[in-house]
Amino acid sequence: MKLMRFLRNYAGAIAVSFVLLIVSTGLGLVQPRLIELAIDKGIKVGSLTFVLIGAGGIILSALLAAGINLLSGFALIKSSQGFGYELRNALYRKVMGFSFANLDKWRTGELMVRLNSDVNTVRMFVRMGSFLIVQSVLMIIGTLVAMFMTDVGLASIMAIIMPLTLVVFAFAATFIRPLFMKARKALDDMNNTMQENLAGAKVVRAFARQEEEIRKFEERNKANYDISIEVGWKLSIFFPLFFLIGNFAVLVALWAGGTTLLGQLTDAAAAASGGLTLGKLVAFNNYAAMAMFPLLMLGLVLNFISMAIASAVRLDGVLTEKPEIEEKADARNLPRLQGSIEFRNVSFRYGSGEKALDGISFSIRAGEKVGIIGTTGSGKTSLVNLISRFYDAEDGQVLIDGINVKDLSFKTLRSRIAMVLQETVLFTGTLRENVAFGAPDASQAELEHAAGLSCALDFINEKPDAWDENIGERGAGLSGGQRQRIAIARAVAARPDIIILDDVTSSLDATTERTIVSSLYEEFYGRTAIIISQKINTIRDADRIMVMGDGHIIGIGTHDKLVEGNDTYRRICETQVVARSGGLV
Ligand SMILES: Nc1ncnc2c1ncn2[C@@H]1O[C@H](COP(=O)(O)OP(=O)(O)OP(=O)(O)O)[C@@H](O)[C@H]1O
Ligand SMILES: [Mg+2]
Repeated sequence: MKLMRFLRNYAGAIAVSFVLLIVSTGLGLVQPRLIELAIDKGIKVGSLTFVLIGAGGIILSALLAAGINLLSGFALIKSSQGFGYELRNALYRKVMGFSFANLDKWRTGELMVRLNSDVNTVRMFVRMGSFLIVQSVLMIIGTLVAMFMTDVGLASIMAIIMPLTLVVFAFAATFIRPLFMKARKALDDMNNTMQENLAGAKVVRAFARQEEEIRKFEERNKANYDISIEVGWKLSIFFPLFFLIGNFAVLVALWAGGTTLLGQLTDAAAAASGGLTLGKLVAFNNYAAMAMFPLLMLGLVLNFISMAIASAVRLDGVLTEKPEIEEKADARNLPRLQGSIEFRNVSFRYGSGEKALDGISFSIRAGEKVGIIGTTGSGKTSLVNLISRFYDAEDGQVLIDGINVKDLSFKTLRSRIAMVLQETVLFTGTLRENVAFGAPDASQAELEHAAGLSCALDFINEKPDAWDENIGERGAGLSGGQRQRIAIARAVAARPDIIILDDVTSSLDATTERTIVSSLYEEFYGRTAIIISQKINTIRDADRIMVMGDGHIIGIGTHDKLVEGNDTYRRICETQVVARSGGLV
């Protein structure tokens, strides 16, 4: 499995822990022989020395084994945590490389689950699973060998009984696994409900759906509770049952040994001829008991391998997801853009849906100010998304400064073009951090200039901590219009060669909006600016206006020309003029 590469750096720690494991298993295996020694050479012949040697040896080996186990445990924790650490980093890096199209495909919740639960499942398996498998196999082989060395006859019986027990254990464990899976799903369900509701907490209140949502959550919570109880009581039945089976297997060996022993004339004669002695039987009995626990563990772990594999496959799915949009190896890095934009017969669709853009052609001169207007869903956002390659066109070409955007580096596209997205996204942090997001090196004066231009300076200064004001999660402490203005300031501060505003003045009053747009034109004198809006007022002063309808450009020209010659544009004007005279704008 490819995930194993994340263990590479920890090969040393793993090797050490396994070697230590072998040593401690070996030490554990010596103990019954020490008991045998104490019985056969000590107790039976009345030699205190051998009793002491046996007892001392047992204590010493137990202490040593405990110490070594501790070390080996540490080494394993280090490697499994390191594995989780590297895996999570790799996943995060991968998701950061996702383009818009990849992000459309994965739900946030799903990615969260993968980055959390799946990583943990696999990590736990690396730690517990591999440890238990190696330890169990070692113990089983070790006890078998030791049993054969103690008494071949009895060992042969155990060699048959042990695989049978393993089969019984593994079979019994198949009843537990689905329970664990169900428990895990119930937990995921509950967490998802909780996450969704917390994220949409305000909508839930706005629609007075609290009762409904509380009921939904209680249902999930109850399901989780029920399944946990079920797992609990089933386990408390299963485990004693397992031990019963194990003890029964030991009993068979003991019975066979006991009858052999009783059939012998004397112990001494048996010892002399290499037959079974009481000490050997006790040692053997110990080995048999020792073998049962690893058999049980192996039976359980084998069952959980499939769960770890399922998680690993899901993680692999994220790691091998191909970014829809990749940078060419020899992509060009331009320090500056002139700012001309050309679309040549461009068509585009999301996934396998209908065409969102159909045969679009136009060109924008460097330094031109362009407005885009059109009904909702007409393709305005889709069109500008192709300029900085958030998506790639299906047909046709998008050119900037005469160069196909596919030949330009991401750095050029994303740092020389600033796009203010339709959905304002701010980050938890201070106002300064948010405005400086695309220009970490900007001076305070530059930030203030950008904020002043987007009419944000006044309200920033009114905040108790001004620029150092913490705006809470996603800018929760700001009004919708304030958030939009911070987003515009963020784009201006990045000092791009092309700026694109996607309907981001919608929450602003008419005066503020006009002020921002006209200072933006001034600031971007000589640089290209595209402004999308539903309002004529916002875009009427642009050099040219594109009118979009249903994935097509249905008109292009100045405000006056369009009023004259474009029906759609004139209709929009009329509704808005009517609205204005009614005092609604
Ligand atoms: N991520 C997406 N996945 C699938 N379809 C999408 C996606 N985004 C937009 N669409 C569809 O593409 C078409 C054009 O959408 P687009 O967002 O470009 O419209 P718009 O002109 O920006 O509208 P609005 O004024 O409401 O922002 C619509 O039919 C829309 O349903
Ligand atoms: Mg849009």
